[in-house]
Amino acid sequence: MTSSNDIRRSFLDHFASAGHSIVPSAPLVPQNDPTLMFTNAGMVPFKNVFTGLERRPYSTAVSSQKCVRAGGKHNDLDNVGYTARHHTFFEMLGNFSFGDYFKERAISLAWDLLTREWGLAKDRLTVTVYHTDDEAADLWKKIAGIPDSRIIRIATNDNFWSMGDTGPCGPCSEIFWDHGDHIPGGPPGSPDEDGDRFVEIWNLVFMQYEQVDKSTRLDLPRPSIDTGMGLERIAAVLQGVHDNYDTDTFRTLIAASEDRVGRAASAEARASHRVVADHLRSAGFLVADGVLPANEGRGYVLRRIMRRAMRHAHLLGAKEPLMHQLVPALIGTMGQAYPELGRAQALIEETLKLEETRFRQTLERGLGLLDEASAKLASGGTLPGDVAFRLYDTYGFPYDLTEDALRARGIAVDRAGFDAAMAEQKKLARAAWTGSGEAKDAAVWFDIAEAHGATEFTGYTGLVGEAQVLALVKDGKQVDTASPGDSLVVITNQTPFYAESGGQAGDGGSISWGDGLSARVTDTRKALGKLHLHDVTLTEGSLKVGDVVRLEVDAPQRGAHRRAHSATHLLHAALRRRLGTHVTQKGSYVGADTLRFDFSHQKAVTPAELAAVEADVNAQVLGNRPVTTTLMTPDDAIAAGAMALFGEKYGEEVRVLAMGADDGGDTYSVELCGGTHVGALGDIGLLKITGESAVASGVRRIEAKTGIAAREWLNERETLLLEAAGAIRARPEEVPARVAALLDERKRLERELADAKKALA
Ligand code: ALA
Repeated sequence: MTSSNDIRRSFLDHFASAGHSIVPSAPLVPQNDPTLMFTNAGMVPFKNVFTGLERRPYSTAVSSQKCVRAGGKHNDLDNVGYTARHHTFFEMLGNFSFGDYFKERAISLAWDLLTREWGLAKDRLTVTVYHTDDEAADLWKKIAGIPDSRIIRIATNDNFWSMGDTGPCGPCSEIFWDHGDHIPGGPPGSPDEDGDRFVEIWNLVFMQYEQVDKSTRLDLPRPSIDTGMGLERIAAVLQGVHDNYDTDTFRTLIAASEDRVGRAASAEARASHRVVADHLRSAGFLVADGVLPANEGRGYVLRRIMRRAMRHAHLLGAKEPLMHQLVPALIGTMGQAYPELGRAQALIEETLKLEETRFRQTLERGLGLLDEASAKLASGGTLPGDVAFRLYDTYGFPYDLTEDALRARGIAVDRAGFDAAMAEQKKLARAAWTGSGEAKDAAVWFDIAEAHGATEFTGYTGLVGEAQVLALVKDGKQVDTASPGDSLVVITNQTPFYAESGGQAGDGGSISWGDGLSARVTDTRKALGKLHLHDVTLTEGSLKVGDVVRLEVDAPQRGAHRRAHSATHLLHAALRRRLGTHVTQKGSYVGADTLRFDFSHQKAVTPAELAAVEADVNAQVLGNRPVTTTLMTPDDAIAAGAMALFGEKYGEEVRVLAMGADDGGDTYSVELCGGTHVGALGDIGLLKITGESAVASGVRRIEAKTGIAAREWLNERETLLLEAAGAIRARPEEVPARVAALLDERKRLERELADAKKALA
């Protein structure tokens, strides 16, 4: 049997030997398209190469691209587990020509691979072409010798491929495999085409246009090729099975979950094992690419996928969290092709375990409520929307999980009722906020948050990213367009800019769009705890809602914030060790290489204590250990010894920052913190305490500098010393003794002068 790994390799090799560059899979979070939630086709990373916006050192390429189709436009989540071919995660094999070859070579390369290299029977292959594409039909006849009867013309969008509402597009030609007459279904275009007998295995897109907006379609600079073949489907064909879930990769994963729960994947357990296997792949790959479970945006899609799998694990009778136990099997089958999985193994396992442990706390009670509320419903019935909302709000059941749970019994869920209950809850939250008298101008932020949800922070891992403008706010009001001279707040769907919080200053940087237009972002703030507000003054061009912009954080400034922030954690830990555990944080400010730390302590910190604290922190800096971040529930984090700040409101999940080690080998500092930090403690460079004072009764303040500012501060001190030494004509090391001698001398002279005056009188 040819393994999936062999098939992937042979696809890449086939095109590499025909001169294509092998391009590694891009991450699942698109780097070049803020309108897409996840990379959902092989061509996504090449979008700007097709349109001519971006140049690459090659004109033909081949890849095996990780794709997720869950959430957003292409969403296969609901069908996973119940069909032979739906996946939330899949691999798309594709070859690409950027203005190099076109239809003829694309068809000939494809035919050669399928029939010569892989030896597929020619008479079991059928192709479709766009109904007006005579050229493609003729080429299939000429190159492949396919008879007219198996070249099917299709007039619908099935044979005109586009990435989304905008982007590169063109007519396409699909290749189908006939799984045999023992399976019901007809050829494409026939009334029973939806059967499973004829399966599309490869789509060749003849990219010719760019859809700019609804009514504008431009020619691409040069005709190009984009093809896509689902690895799971071709593996089924080459391994002689009909169902993707019977291919080697899925068999391995399903065997692992059968083994763990002690239940075979037959009868009603079949769908559950499939869901677990599929969702394990998407969750594992998403976490490896930096997505973590959250209640909004991408993170919520991940959470929905995870929880859906976790309910099925529960159905299978898993007594313990299951998903994290299957990660080794996933890495065993796919880790060689995607080394990022192995690198992220600990994070994937921890994330899955945490999510499942937490969800299991409410799952059973939620299912109890669901059973009760649906007991009287028969097939064809509908669960009231407010019950679905209660399951969501109180028991953490994503809407589609409730749907999935009722699916087998033929019961639907009242979506409109669910949405209405959600809207009602938002209204109450808003009323509570307005009533609290906090900032009347919050209304505009509520409007924006209600329309778009939270904005996503992407800046833990990267400092540059594309985004789409969701709203522009000028003088407290939403506007559609901003013009030169306007000072305004720009809100985008995602951003690498850190918004001021937890003491850490907001990021500055630049925003650019259109044809070389740009403006400075002077600060980033947060509203309602969920919107990132970029302060921008426009100097050129106009900026509109809906524009795609590039956001770039001022990297040196962020570096300086990071150094100061990590040093603040070390300082906090050092103070507790030297002065006692009564020391707790009362406030802090973290700016560019400068920090202020207020803490409870009854008396002034002595110079000797300060020197010891400073030395302790710098010993940690020199130790240069890596800084680690883990995601936990607040309770677990505090149980694990993390320092939480009293009175702070923490979300459902917190980031736990661990740094350094003491002489006994214990972690030096563990704190809950959403800020940004250095990768290793040596990056801090140096910590220099520059001041100690009282702020209020029982509260002291330490001021300090790190990195560049610490060095500059020391240099300034040195300059002062040199100036003083020059003035008294001494070497720097002689200054204290010389100054003391001068003072003595002055005292003596004053005495003598007084005596002389007295004698004179
Ligand atoms: N981009 C094409 C598809 O996704 C190949 O089907």
